[in-house]
Amino acid sequence: MGEERLEGLLEENRVFKPGAEFQAQAAVQEGKVYEEAESDRLGFWGKAAERLSWFRPWEKVLEWEPPFAQWYVGGKLNASYNCIDRHLAGWRRNKAAIIFEGEHGDSRVLTYQNLYREVNKFANVLKSLGVEKGDRVTIYLPMIPEAAIAMLACARIGAPHSVVFGGFSAEALRDRINDAQAKVLITSDGSFRRGSVVPLKENADTALAGAGSVEHVIVVQRTGSEVHMQEGRDLWYHEQMQKAAVECPPEEMDAEDMLFILYTSGTTGKPKGVVHTTGGYMVGVSTTHEWIFDLKEEDVYWCTADVGWITGHSYIVYGPLANGATVVMYEGTPDYPAKDRFWEIVEKYRVTILYTAPTAIRTFMKWGPSYPESRDLSSLRVLGTVGEPINPEAWIWYHTYIGRERCPIVDTWWQTETGMIMMAPLPGLTDLKPGSCTVPFPGVKVEVVDHDGQPVPKGSGGYLVVREPWPAMLRTVYGDNDRYVQTYWGNWPGIYFTGDGAKWDQDGYFWVLGRVDDVINVSGHRIGTAEVESALVDHPAVAEAACIGKNHEVKGQAVAAFVTLKEGVETRNGLVDELKAHVAKKIGALARPDDIFFTAELPKTRSGKIMRRLLRDIAEGRALGDTTTLADASVVQTLKEQYQE
Ligand code: WT7
Repeated sequence: MGEERLEGLLEENRVFKPGAEFQAQAAVQEGKVYEEAESDRLGFWGKAAERLSWFRPWEKVLEWEPPFAQWYVGGKLNASYNCIDRHLAGWRRNKAAIIFEGEHGDSRVLTYQNLYREVNKFANVLKSLGVEKGDRVTIYLPMIPEAAIAMLACARIGAPHSVVFGGFSAEALRDRINDAQAKVLITSDGSFRRGSVVPLKENADTALAGAGSVEHVIVVQRTGSEVHMQEGRDLWYHEQMQKAAVECPPEEMDAEDMLFILYTSGTTGKPKGVVHTTGGYMVGVSTTHEWIFDLKEEDVYWCTADVGWITGHSYIVYGPLANGATVVMYEGTPDYPAKDRFWEIVEKYRVTILYTAPTAIRTFMKWGPSYPESRDLSSLRVLGTVGEPINPEAWIWYHTYIGRERCPIVDTWWQTETGMIMMAPLPGLTDLKPGSCTVPFPGVKVEVVDHDGQPVPKGSGGYLVVREPWPAMLRTVYGDNDRYVQTYWGNWPGIYFTGDGAKWDQDGYFWVLGRVDDVINVSGHRIGTAEVESALVDHPAVAEAACIGKNHEVKGQAVAAFVTLKEGVETRNGLVDELKAHVAKKIGALARPDDIFFTAELPKTRSGKIMRRLLRDIAEGRALGDTTTLADASVVQTLKEQYQE
């Protein structure tokens, strides 16, 4: 397809209607689901819950004492039972649950029966180490089936898991273990990354030097690297599995029992442990997964996220497996060994549903269409995106070169805290507009409001909020109810604030504009400015630091840091690299600033608050906004001149 055609499409500002053929086979074909859910929201969610297997039915759909919710009160169930056991009765027993593709092209298929065996055995391993219902388990693993097995094994015995993304540093891991007071850590001898090995076990050892709660470390063998095993504490996964019994009955969990904690960055230096419970979460993720991706029994579904993020929890593990789907799990990166790696995988497994991130799509755009064009992508039928606003150019490119103009694109807006997708099209029903996540899911009440919490008229913008509780909502911040109340419900009573800005158009379509708080979205990953700043001031040369998100062609946003050095410290060759490396060491490579600027002073208000807005203006070369509240107006002028040099 020629460049001109692409430009033509962009100019048209087109609406994409569902194709007749797609519509005729779609999971949801009738718009009345929206009206039904609108007129009886709790009835809608009550009916949705019947899709799960319950040991005991719930008595009441919702108990709401703002901002604390209980969903499916009195109901008993087990997440691993819903993801595995109930599929074993019929032919799904032999269906592929997880198709694993290793970085090096090695492949492994786990049927639902295989998964049952592995999860049960590992649940018994955890039990043998004294893990009981309610104990926390930290998981720090690569994208290998053992990550899903470990999560489901925890769910089986009622031990909440806390998965820490394998790209996080030893210090970040330590803080998360300590906050959760985890009893067991599950890691591996290493993880493959573009042909080299990331030493996960070594990071774990460093972390554990400052984390006393961990009694045992279970180590999965993945890379074969030499690792230190501490006598009495560290155990090999494969050795433990050999001895484990095959049956482990699922614990009967209350709908409101904690399923997992997942840490996410906020506006302070300390990440928040977002708490999700069992019943509402499972109803939310399984319903949205089926409806939004139009899941069919024979689909091959691939979500390219890492299990270390909420996308991996909800849409690699719990949602798809609860639906009995076949899930592709890929260990590596899009460019190893070659830039057609994703398309090679689509071709190899005949993937039908692909769920990825705008940053990946922009990367593919940069590489050019020859890579997808060299592969057979005719199996694809639904495409999805998540993580940040997708620019219309990237949307059209995805639609044209990956979907070959056949596949609807579901742009899904949600958050770690929402647990489930909150806004997205239903692909057989909803007209698509490139760049808009379209409309809220049935039974979800999202609005755009002004400073006073009043809804803004169509055609205008404001703060994105959720007006009513939803089943997969976070229940609290682990160990910190106050922070939960303050952060999410503190602006307007009874209204959940997302931290995002958005507008809605004349058709009632939502356009998410991005964060309005001090959070940076780098490649769809959330990084708190305060976290990066505290990592920088931790370096002996730094007195003060201010970070901002700067627009970036591929990553969406990149971290830029303005740094004041300590009295008597001179800038020197290599200091910028040293500071960048320091941030990577403290947090992880994902937080490494792209740019670091030294400045004698930072622009501050009279009360001492750093004016990040002005720093953003400077970094993006814009005219300076309102500077009247600055304590010393000359600071930004000097800074601007220095920056331009
Ligand atoms: C933030 C949540 C939800 C899984 C991935 C990120 C941004 C997410 C979209 C989208 C525009 C989006 C928002 C949100 N975001 N999806 N489709 N369109 N923005 O999870 O780390 O909790 O981040 O990601 O800013 O608040 P997260």
